[in-house]
Amino acid sequence: MKTVTLSTLQAFKRAGESFSCLTAYDASFARAASDAGIEVLLVGDSLGMVLQGHASTLPVTLEEICYHTRCVARGKGASLLMVDLPFMGNASTERLLENAGELMRAGAEMVKVEGEAWMADGIRELTRRGVPVCAHLGLTPQTVHQLGGYKVQGRDTERATQILEDARVLVEAGASVILLECVPASLGRAITEALDVPVIGIGAGPDTDGQILVMHDVLDVTAGRRPRFVKNFMAEAEDIHGAFRRYHEDVKARRFPAEEHCF
Ligand code: KIV
Repeated sequence: MKTVTLSTLQAFKRAGESFSCLTAYDASFARAASDAGIEVLLVGDSLGMVLQGHASTLPVTLEEICYHTRCVARGKGASLLMVDLPFMGNASTERLLENAGELMRAGAEMVKVEGEAWMADGIRELTRRGVPVCAHLGLTPQTVHQLGGYKVQGRDTERATQILEDARVLVEAGASVILLECVPASLGRAITEALDVPVIGIGAGPDTDGQILVMHDVLDVTAGRRPRFVKNFMAEAEDIHGAFRRYHEDVKARRFPAEEHCF
């Protein structure tokens, strides 16, 4: 695989070619995912749940994210490395800039931030300073307590319109990529069609430009209830490398997500 950059993702969008993204937290799994062709790796704050065993992503610290970013950066190969800004990392613009700087110094090539239209000023300041931003909308796990649980967002017209409007505002402010989590497939399609930037979906239907899953879900080692949008790729693979390859191929061919994975 040729080195994946933001320009690569923009070219995929223009060509209507889907791309695959996967969380990674260490060098070995990052290498395996990159070797399988997965274009984007995310050091997600989901590490608080799948590595540390917390009930949410809130306890994850900047230091922990930076540690895992340095690990993944050593194994990432040609994949693009996106990294999550942890909870409250955006408590002020000053803090946001300092924290994003730390993530970039650790090896991030794009910083993912949760937040709605109010994040526009922060995103503007980051992009001015050369930090590519992915804005995460829909179900934003850092606001799980405000949302009242991990629930599908944008089922009603008012909320769906709000998410689309937030996405427009954040792209206008400089966001290079939008990530949509747990929204109806119809909204995933509408937002992808409305925006010029690549849109990555998780539980957002088959029509977003890219798809992302948490690595543990792909390998079926997540404890507890499995969300509707995940698929166990180990079921049809001989080993982890085969599962990553299968996930990548199914995303590229738009075989995943299928109807049973969508809202
Ligand atoms: O932290 C994470 O893994 C994420 C994905 C669910 C997109 O944000």
